[in-house]
Amino acid sequence: MRRIGYILLFTLGLGSTLHAADMQSGERLFKEYCWGCHHQTAEAFGPSFRKIANTRDRGSIMAQIADPEHTYKELGYKRNSMPSFGDLNSSQLEKLTEFILSFKDKK
Ligand code: HEC
Repeated sequence: MRRIGYILLFTLGLGSTLHAADMQSGERLFKEYCWGCHHQTAEAFGPSFRKIANTRDRGSIMAQIADPEHTYKELGYKRNSMPSFGDLNSSQLEKLTEFILSFKDKK
């Protein structure tokens, strides 16, 4: 019984470490590609990640990063001022999206 407890603890620990690593690389991608125009909680050239996280769903965030030329109208913008990041791979897209969503206000 005790052994199972240890295994469980270990697995849970590993899970959250992996999750933290994910966040970290989402943050790294953000600093590399997005920070010039977006900040975490403050409005910059583009909207803050907090605002995006509180108003959009995962799918539209991902679509906007990959292909803003085809999503800006749907999101209510008159023109597109954001470069496309369609050459990021899907894991990078997911990490960035997770990172953005991590700024969603807790209810
Ligand atoms: C050159 C500046 C620029 C860069 C770099 C940039 N963005 Fe943007 N982004 C904008 C602007 C400006 C908007 C608002 C829409 C518009 O005017 O085109 C926007 C909009 C968005 C939106 C949709 C906002 C909404 O209302 O839902 C998301 C999501 C987004 N950006 C994510 C990112 C991510 C992630 C990166 C980095 C990979 C990034 N952007 C890099 C300028 C930029």
